[in-house]
Amino acid sequence: MPDDTGALLPGEGATWADVLAGDAAWWLGLGDCRDVLATMPPGCVDAVVTDPPYPEISRDYGRMTEADWHAMMRQVVGETRHALTATGSAMFVLQANSERVGRMRPWLWEFMAWTAREWNQIQDVWWWNHTAQVTMHASQRGLMRPSVKACVWLGPEDAYRNQNAILWTESDDNKAQRASGRLNNNLHKYPSGGTNRKLRQVMSAARRGGVTPFNLWPIANANSTSSGGAYGHGAATPFLLCRRWVEYISSDGAIVLDPFAGSGTVGQAALLLSRRFIGCEIFPTYHAVARRRLGAAYAARQPALFTLDDGAA
Ligand SMILES: C[S@@+](CC[C@H](N)C(=O)[O-])C[C@H]1O[C@@H](n2cnc3c(N)ncnc32)[C@H](O)[C@@H]1O
Repeated sequence: MPDDTGALLPGEGATWADVLAGDAAWWLGLGDCRDVLATMPPGCVDAVVTDPPYPEISRDYGRMTEADWHAMMRQVVGETRHALTATGSAMFVLQANSERVGRMRPWLWEFMAWTAREWNQIQDVWWWNHTAQVTMHASQRGLMRPSVKACVWLGPEDAYRNQNAILWTESDDNKAQRASGRLNNNLHKYPSGGTNRKLRQVMSAARRGGVTPFNLWPIANANSTSSGGAYGHGAATPFLLCRRWVEYISSDGAIVLDPFAGSGTVGQAALLLSRRFIGCEIFPTYHAVARRRLGAAYAARQPALFTLDDGAA
């Protein structure tokens, strides 16, 4: 139950049903997410942000064939869709990999095709890790360095999103051009038939406090203290990427679900942003790490936003 100040209690000892009822801020299950997802009621979570395991990659938590991976993801996608509210959406971070140099595995394109056809891909969004090491895949016989992951974003066309929450700061170049008066407001006509007034565009971005980002998000995969790599997870998701998605597709007090929680980075971002969080992790070592991180994030959350009365208490 909420404490004297109305703040929701942390997740230790809670159940996922407590989180749904508004009696706890987070819950992290130990085990296969499919067992938990299968028991969740329809329309109970607001957003899914997750970075699943990829097929044919050896990790502490094992290695899956493409066929097994598709079977698992069919179930996970179906059940997360069922668990989402009518305007909720789900984002899966996935990176294509190769069978050998010069031969890509098809699973990512297959996943995108069937989810787009059977559910809906809202927009193609990509994360560019521009800090991928220079030496990675750099041998003469190799190809280009893979540094882009798909953020497969699924949900209804009118999915909740907060464009203003993810504005990029105006570039110094734009600011300098405005300050020096070098931008004019002449109407430029393009061969395509389109027109543009550059100053007007730049001014509207300045008034909004930034610009809508491109669908390619350049975010460093830094092994910093705020990322799972610093906690020993070999395939952690950058905190900044998690935070951006949580901010974009959920609102204050919303329930965010991560079925493949790993070291808990999505949950950490959710709690720091005053959302509630439900997660699952199958590997006990990572589960323990994530619990610690979630506890710390809850303690450091934005308390003012957590004194919410969502009618469930
Ligand atoms: C790419 S990692 C997630 C990383 C996480 N976002 C982070 O920042 O640490 C995928 C995680 O899914 C977990 N996992 C794999 N299969 C699972 C399953 N069926 N149910 C729950 N977790 C699973 C793995 O143990 C691994 O920690």
